[in-house]
Amino acid sequence: MKLPRQFFQPLAIGAPAPMRDLPVRLERMIHFVPPHVEKMRAKVPELVSQVDVVLGNLEDAIPVDAKEAARKGFIEMGKTVDFGATGLWTRINALNSPWALDDVIEIVGAIGQKLDVIMLPKVDGPWDIHYLDQLLAQLEARHRIAKPILIHAILETAQGVNNVEAIASASPRMHGMSLGPADLAASRAMKTTRVGGGHPEYKVLADAAGEGPRAAYQQDLWHYTVGRMVDACAAAGIKPFYGPFGDFSDAAACEAQFRNAFLMGCLGAWSLHPSQIAIAKKVYSPDPAEVAFAKKIVEAMPDGAGAVMIDGKMQDDATWKQAKVLIDLAKLVAAKDPEMGQRYGV
Ligand code: GLV
Ligand code: MG
Repeated sequence: MKLPRQFFQPLAIGAPAPMRDLPVRLERMIHFVPPHVEKMRAKVPELVSQVDVVLGNLEDAIPVDAKEAARKGFIEMGKTVDFGATGLWTRINALNSPWALDDVIEIVGAIGQKLDVIMLPKVDGPWDIHYLDQLLAQLEARHRIAKPILIHAILETAQGVNNVEAIASASPRMHGMSLGPADLAASRAMKTTRVGGGHPEYKVLADAAGEGPRAAYQQDLWHYTVGRMVDACAAAGIKPFYGPFGDFSDAAACEAQFRNAFLMGCLGAWSLHPSQIAIAKKVYSPDPAEVAFAKKIVEAMPDGAGAVMIDGKMQDDATWKQAKVLIDLAKLVAAKDPEMGQRYGV
């Protein structure tokens, strides 16, 4: 096992020192762009002000014969667009694919200074993170990159879920993790054909009580995995995210799935379609009424000590900490979105 004092050493001579704390950034939606499509690339400059993160997707959904065009398109996008405070990420191909090595080498070589995060798919264990960590350090040293490029893992294999804690704490380069429900369903041989969301047959039936129909309650297929992911990430000090929701025609179901993840501790989700940007913005910006209540808690017990009653509800150290989470998030949203700032009064 690596000794604690070595954990924060750069992995290559000349590479930047790993970050001790993650940069404080708003990442409510990670918006996926297929960079081989020129029409989509052309929209990126106007997208920058509408989303928190722009991600150039190189992996699944990009046709095999467009893999290199996607990589080139992403590099062009990175070079020509001013991203300001909006994050610039890419999802590279899986490490066992014919494209992953060139994805990393070419992208870091060309736009490593601007790239914030590499999303790594199909992470099975900490060994995948260690490999990319070392490779990135070598490339950062070669190209004199000043700020470490972070790694975001997709939790989308059964083995990855088994190793989720080791993945979360594999490297100081770890930014966070997203649930990948489509690949995870395939990896687990789940009997579904969906990208995220629930299933009408996954339900609990109420007890039989005489005559009449029995109530049935649909359950959340992803609750267990999101719970494990949130705990692993929170314990390691990194960020958990819900991933994709594939039914673009069902905004209500998308919102419900995003919100469950938000309430459980996630900080954002992927937007695969423009209509999902507004959904993620709504869900992952805290509710002004909740923020107002959180402010009442902090005002009533400024140092968090003791206990008070507000509107008939007991408040103590633990609710004070929850209130701080909401207020800090509201401040982050307000910095990007002055109109929300006014609604929060922060
Ligand atoms: C995302 O990559 C997924 O497989 O759901
Ligand atoms: Mg996937």
